[in-house]
Amino acid sequence: MAYIFITGVSTGIGFDAMKTLINQGYHIIGTVRNETDANRLKDEFGKQCTLLIFDVTDKEKCKSEISGIYHMLEKEGLSCLINNAGIAVPGPLQHLTDEEFAHQMEVNVHAVRRITNLLLPYLGTDKKYNPGKIINISSVSGLFSSPFNGAYCISKHALESMNDVYRRELSMFGIQVIAIEPGPIKTEIWNKNMGTLDRFKDTPYGNILASADKMIKNSEMSAFDVKVISDIISGIIADPRPKTRFLVHRKPFLFKLLAYYLPDRIVDKMIRKTLASGDQYRPV
Ligand SMILES: NC(=O)c1ccc[n+]([C@@H]2O[C@H](COP(=O)([O-])OP(=O)(O)OC[C@H]3O[C@@H](n4cnc5c(N)ncnc54)[C@H](OP(=O)(O)O)[C@@H]3O)[C@@H](O)[C@H]2O)c1
Repeated sequence: MAYIFITGVSTGIGFDAMKTLINQGYHIIGTVRNETDANRLKDEFGKQCTLLIFDVTDKEKCKSEISGIYHMLEKEGLSCLINNAGIAVPGPLQHLTDEEFAHQMEVNVHAVRRITNLLLPYLGTDKKYNPGKIINISSVSGLFSSPFNGAYCISKHALESMNDVYRRELSMFGIQVIAIEPGPIKTEIWNKNMGTLDRFKDTPYGNILASADKMIKNSEMSAFDVKVISDIISGIIADPRPKTRFLVHRKPFLFKLLAYYLPDRIVDKMIRKTLASGDQYRPV
């Protein structure tokens, strides 16, 4: 039996990846945060999945739940770990509370390292097993820093670095580490952010953020279907030597130009214009 571990399978990218990989015959060990989601997924997928219920920020629960499935992995190890669970905490850096900023980092960065380390022996650092793969669901926000989405961008930049460090450290075991860097994808993450910027309306950023919900809607309309990511994940798992990173963007050349080649001041001016027109602000 080939096992794949996915964090955050309740909705979105994690859910679709789970469904796709189960259809290909894998057994998915997925994480959710509540019994309702666990029961719903168990009803849909039955014996082809094992569901663990914990919040990734709960260190003790995370450790006890994951060590509870070691016996399943004892024989053949883990084929792939997909670090997917994530949140976006939007807002001006100046006005996010320390707790909000720390929570963003805890979910998108610290928990990824914690969970990866708990599973690494079964991915091949314990040389009993064939080397597995780690897929980190990063973001274009790990490559480019957008205003008012700062905490998320900082977390995904950290994840990009973690991805590269693990890739270089784990290559001696043959474990491959791959980053997927999506632009907007149609998932629940969009609705979760609707209206959350209202609380900054009385700050000096209030005017510029006033049309944020409309901008979120605009971005959502140009977003890719989640299937695009599941197909990339399937390709990575099937490929003995996949690329190390996958940028998923409608205009990859333009994105790379903005992110890597144009002078900062030109890009800053373009962003100011975009924000002023209230047209294309893309929060994730
Ligand atoms: N959608 C996009 O446009 C986009 C673009 C680039 C990258 N991404 C990345 O893709 C990944 C998946 O996001 P998505 O778009 O599929 O959004 P989503 O539908 O909101 O899924 C996020 C998943 O993470 C789980 N999660 C959140 N906080 C958690 C916590 N503290 N503990 C455990 N699980 C937690 C959620 O569980 P609950 O249901 O319990 O909240 C959910 O299963 C994220 O890392 C996100 O940054 C998304």
